[in-house]
Amino acid sequence: MSEREPIGVVGAGWVGLVTAACFAELGHRVVVREIVEEKVESLQRGEVPIHEPGLSELISKNADRLSFTTDMGELLADARLIFVCVQTPPTVSGDADLSAVQRAVEEIGEPDGKALVMKSTVPVGTGRTIRRDEPDLAYVSCPEFLREGTALKDFMEPDRVLVGTDPGDEWAGDAVAALYQPLGAPIVRTDVSSSEMVKLASNAFLATKISFINEIANVCEELGADVTDVAKGMGLDDRIGSRFLQAGIGYGGSCFTKDVSALKMLAANSGYHFQLLNSVIEVNELQKRRVMAKLSRHLDTLVGKRVALLGLAFKPDTDDMRGASSLVLAARLQGEGATVAAFDPVAEAVAAPLMPGVEMAGSAIAALEGADAAVLVTEWGEFRELDWGDVVRRMSTPLLVDGRNFLDGEAVRSAGITYEAIGRPSAEGTRVAGGREAEQAKR
Ligand code: UGA
Repeated sequence: MSEREPIGVVGAGWVGLVTAACFAELGHRVVVREIVEEKVESLQRGEVPIHEPGLSELISKNADRLSFTTDMGELLADARLIFVCVQTPPTVSGDADLSAVQRAVEEIGEPDGKALVMKSTVPVGTGRTIRRDEPDLAYVSCPEFLREGTALKDFMEPDRVLVGTDPGDEWAGDAVAALYQPLGAPIVRTDVSSSEMVKLASNAFLATKISFINEIANVCEELGADVTDVAKGMGLDDRIGSRFLQAGIGYGGSCFTKDVSALKMLAANSGYHFQLLNSVIEVNELQKRRVMAKLSRHLDTLVGKRVALLGLAFKPDTDDMRGASSLVLAARLQGEGATVAAFDPVAEAVAAPLMPGVEMAGSAIAALEGADAAVLVTEWGEFRELDWGDVVRRMSTPLLVDGRNFLDGEAVRSAGITYEAIGRPSAEGTRVAGGREAEQAKR
């Protein structure tokens, strides 16, 4: 293999590590610079601090092309293209906090003939400001569209790659486009601000799609229709598309929540009231709470009841708890006087400090033991394998709310469980009996 362009990555978070590992896999030498020393030390030992399927393996497979350092000088000595992959979390006002980006830009400085490639999600206009303040550093906007849990595949098989440059920096845009060219995806060249807007608009649109189908689901419940059939019927229309039409208990994660509010604030700061996004946010917040009403339909009170949460992470195949619906749900349940037992195959350790008073059960069955109700929050594959006959015997009252429309409702119901889903015909609104409680009553 001929010598490939060496690459620098600033930030060993989820985006930085995936980007670094995938470019290494494509044959590039990659230096990753991270300020947190312990993180660098653990990466040097071959320990990957985040859960992303296949990432540890890819990092160890490409260990000879990857190096991790706290020293920005080491990165600058090697690389011409410097990918900035630092976090831009929301501030209390809903704007993006750019302090990590600013620190990275200062530390990079203005080395000759180098380009900063912005992967972090930043407000529209950020690139232009950085370019104005650092006139000798070329600037490329190259937003990432990876999803947690499928990030490696998303990197290697992107739908498109955005490369945004302003006049004078075309050489850097060409170099970035050349990096992605082997992936065979369309490369969209724009100015910097348009590229920044593509990222925010894409996430906001996907979030809107989810809030839309969630509202359709809520209306389906009122009118006796089934949202999964409705989504299927809608999604086959090419203009609509079937992806991101899955109703549930609301979108979570750091990105949609953060980017929808960042776009709303960006518009507001420029004098435009982005009305639609207010509704997208509100619908999502209310959706997380609708499960409470479903439980109340079947249980006289939640006081003293044990409720099992199946899944905690904001989606499967990650231990990321940011924006997870489980956080809101657990707090609401506790607020109503219930005790909460939870199980997540990978997120329990991350979740425990965020959910005071919640019992981390260690297995789904342990969480369900003696429970008066269960809520499936995250669609981990292993929940489909549960032995529902066993579940009925272990639960105090067999009531299950499937917050992701993930389970085979017929199989669950035929085991004797009262099964509720989202936007689908529901069980009678009667008090649930059966399970351990019914057995005790018989005695
Ligand atoms: C999202 C985008 O999908 C990525 O393209 C983007 O790069 C990323 O944000 C980012 O900005 O970094 P991610 O947050 O990892 O990716 O997760 P998604 O798979 O998009 O799911 C987000 C949330 O929406 C999850 O809670 C998921 O359960 C929910 N969702 C998703 C639904 O409720 N219904 C759906 O049909 C799809």
